[in-house]
Amino acid sequence: MTLTPVLTARWGEKDSFTRRVYERNGGYKALRQALQRTPESIVEAVKDSGLRGRGGAGFPTGMKWSFVPKDIPKPTYLVVNADESEPGTCKDIPLMMADPHVLVEGVIISAYAIGAHTAFIYVRGEVLHVIRRLQAAVAEAYEAGYLGTNILGSGYDLELVVHAGAGAYICGEETALLDSLEGRRGQPRLKPPFPAVAGLYASPTVINNVETIASVPSIVSNGSGWFRSMGSEKSPGFGIFSLSGHVTNPGQYEAPLGITLNELLDMAGGIRAGHRLKFWTPGGSSTPMLTEEHADLPLDFESMAGAGTMLGTRALQIFDDTTCVVRATLRWVEFYKHESCGKCTPCREGFWWQVQILDRLEKGQGTEADLDKLLDLSDNIGGRSFCALADGGIAPVTSSIQHFRDEYIAHFEHGGCPFDPAASALFT
Ligand code: NAI
Repeated sequence: MTLTPVLTARWGEKDSFTRRVYERNGGYKALRQALQRTPESIVEAVKDSGLRGRGGAGFPTGMKWSFVPKDIPKPTYLVVNADESEPGTCKDIPLMMADPHVLVEGVIISAYAIGAHTAFIYVRGEVLHVIRRLQAAVAEAYEAGYLGTNILGSGYDLELVVHAGAGAYICGEETALLDSLEGRRGQPRLKPPFPAVAGLYASPTVINNVETIASVPSIVSNGSGWFRSMGSEKSPGFGIFSLSGHVTNPGQYEAPLGITLNELLDMAGGIRAGHRLKFWTPGGSSTPMLTEEHADLPLDFESMAGAGTMLGTRALQIFDDTTCVVRATLRWVEFYKHESCGKCTPCREGFWWQVQILDRLEKGQGTEADLDKLLDLSDNIGGRSFCALADGGIAPVTSSIQHFRDEYIAHFEHGGCPFDPAASALFT
């Protein structure tokens, strides 16, 4: 019984991205097994495994697949969301660079399971090296008869297209992604209908994250019991945890869900020497930040929700005691302001105002009333837009005020940032 690492197991191997090395390690055997089975049995296996979406939201994958309507006169599409761009999130890009064939194999099995004959991998436009690597892997898969018509003599046909976006954060939002794929400006659509029912060209479309689809071949080969032997009952399996910031050895650490930040820090050599953990995000900046007191909580969907945050993309951005939380929050909100697509007024205008206020606070020119204004604005941004960008963007604001109100106050009481060497040495 192989346990973690699963997804990262081949990353260190020379030429790991080639079909030759992937096949030498047992690659494409799961596809052969899957094609011997009925599509329904694959959907059932994924459902039984409890696999939940690895793009951040954690929606049950098998359930999403089962929403695809049967017997309607429209094609079904599979779209892989490879538009990874949440601040701190950097797991899908290394996965696609090191092991693109596990994604291609996952796509073929998943498309077979949902009855799709056309699939897309939508990659963000800036990462040309990833696009080229995927294109090469897809070409190798066509050569071997894993893609195209009558795959491995099974009678099943699938075309797989690698599509490059143009580098907009909003295009990682699944419905904006669909608009972009259809050749329009990427902006979110109102849900419902969910894409599984009416997505690309108004046809049933399953959209899954890279890591989700890359997990499918191992579930088909090893079974749902094997997958469930890792993680917790409601958050089974494994995931890639991306540690960045003030850690001794930043990088990708694959582990069962439910591992704690402290356990991951042990693997990563701890917080950089001489410093203490101050705050961290469990899954990118759109998940409310946590502090040292949360470092022993299991990193799974339920425990993170219990702590008032979300597991998200498992992008653990680590900040030590040298970091100004107001400055970090300002930088994040500048990002959301810049990336707001402008469709919904609360998001478009709200983040603009929050940046003005945070900028003033960071320079020590604000007042306590500004904190109430930030929270009031957050109330009027979150839940009032078409997509989750608005809810995500307010997370750093509300959580930093919740945990570090004193540090905000210190800024305006002392007329400047206490972390600025030129300002008062307040925290020394
Ligand atoms: P969501 O919870 O609205 O939906 C998650 C998925 O489940 C979607 O595919 C949706 O279509 C499906 N779904 C939900 N309810 C459904 C229903 N009743 N019927 C059929 N399908 C249903 O979350 P959303 O807006 O898709 O994603 C938000 C998350 O994305 C955030 O939590 C954040 O962690 C993450 N995120 C990830 C980024 C990245 O770079 N990977 C970037 C930004 C955000």
